Amino acid sequence: MAKELFAGQRKNKYRIVISKNAISKKNLAPLLKNHNKTLLISDDGVPSKIVREVAAVCKPSTKVFKIILKHGEQAKSVQNFQKILNFLADNNFDRTDLIVAVGGGVVGDISGFVASSYLRGIQFIQIPTTLLAQVDSSVGGKTAINIVAGKNLVGAFYNPKGVIIDTTVLNSLPNREFKAGLAEVIKYAFIQNKSLFSLLKKYTKKILLKDQKIIEEIIFLSLQTKAMIVTKDEKENGIRAILNFGHTFGHAIEAHGKYKKILHGEAVAKGMKVASKISYLENLISEKEHKEVIALLQNFEFDLSLEQYKYRELKPYIFRDKKIKAGKLNLVLLNKLSNAVVTNSFDTKSLQKGLQD
Ligand SMILES: NC(=O)c1ccc[n+]([C@@H]2O[C@H](COP(=O)([O-])OP(=O)(O)OC[C@H]3O[C@@H](n4cnc5c(N)ncnc54)[C@H](O)[C@@H]3O)[C@@H](O)[C@H]2O)c1
Ligand SMILES: [Zn+2]
Repeated sequence: MAKELFAGQRKNKYRIVISKNAISKKNLAPLLKNHNKTLLISDDGVPSKIVREVAAVCKPSTKVFKIILKHGEQAKSVQNFQKILNFLADNNFDRTDLIVAVGGGVVGDISGFVASSYLRGIQFIQIPTTLLAQVDSSVGGKTAINIVAGKNLVGAFYNPKGVIIDTTVLNSLPNREFKAGLAEVIKYAFIQNKSLFSLLKKYTKKILLKDQKIIEEIIFLSLQTKAMIVTKDEKENGIRAILNFGHTFGHAIEAHGKYKKILHGEAVAKGMKVASKISYLENLISEKEHKEVIALLQNFEFDLSLEQYKYRELKPYIFRDKKIKAGKLNLVLLNKLSNAVVTNSFDTKSLQKGLQD
């Protein structure tokens, strides 16, 4: 059964549909109405079958153009941004036309940023094809590209017109990418969603085997949490920060490995272990609760070892974190299971201890 959710406020409210075979005329036609031209943006790591399927469903309602980028984080470049803008201008796209992003977070982020800026904004649709994009980057309106000084340093908050989540596209996703996406799913269980926590505990094996029905359910519960938070706090002035649970340390671990050694979700899994340990050291959660956090991550077979990360080496990255306000590091910690808090009052010694295995 198809599931739906809504995110965004008033005029910018958008529908998220989740089901197998969601890439269908029924779901796309209403979104394509009144758009003469559509640019599909994807990358060459996304199976071409998926892009062809989207194009075929779009074609009767709109003229379809395609840009396929070279896959990888480097695709979120200023050069590609400019290339896509020129393509739109050369093909006389106007404000009534449309962009459709078909891919992971990389494609979604650059497509959304192009949509936010071309002619001061044209509409766009997200068709996320990685688990990470389905449960995280396609919802919430954050768009971005990278510059030499760092990742995601240029971007905009810009909501899509709709999000179509087709769970069957995950069949071709490499296991490692799938599991990296699961780290974000687990994050929603830790920070807010109790039902998700129970489901993850109960159906661990089925999830790891990509059981369609359970996957659909965990995507729905993940987005229920994400949609609620980003709708309350569109521009990240408050509660949205809890979505960064595990990310202060995760980002530091990724940066320490020059973004080459470890996937984002794998680093976030380690980061959540550290954040949970600090929560325990700060007496926010009990030892039993901390152990439950670790057990869930272990049951999903995440490598939680921290021995190669010395506090001394990670420290510069930890303190470069975007969550630093007025020189104070804000951490997302757990107050109990499924309840995260943002705080800057903690013993700095806990940072170091939290990183010890
Ligand atoms: N905007 C946000 O809120 C937000 C949130 C989290 C992450 N992000 C961004 O998302 C990016 C990471 O996204 P990602 O993890 O999806 O990586 P990705 O987009 O690089 O996709 C990973 C790989 O999987 C391939 N792929 C995509 N769909 C596939 C499929 N169905 N079958 C087989 N292969 C497929 C891609 O071609 C790519 O090689 C980062 O740039 C990050 O900054 C943005
Ligand atoms: Zn993340």
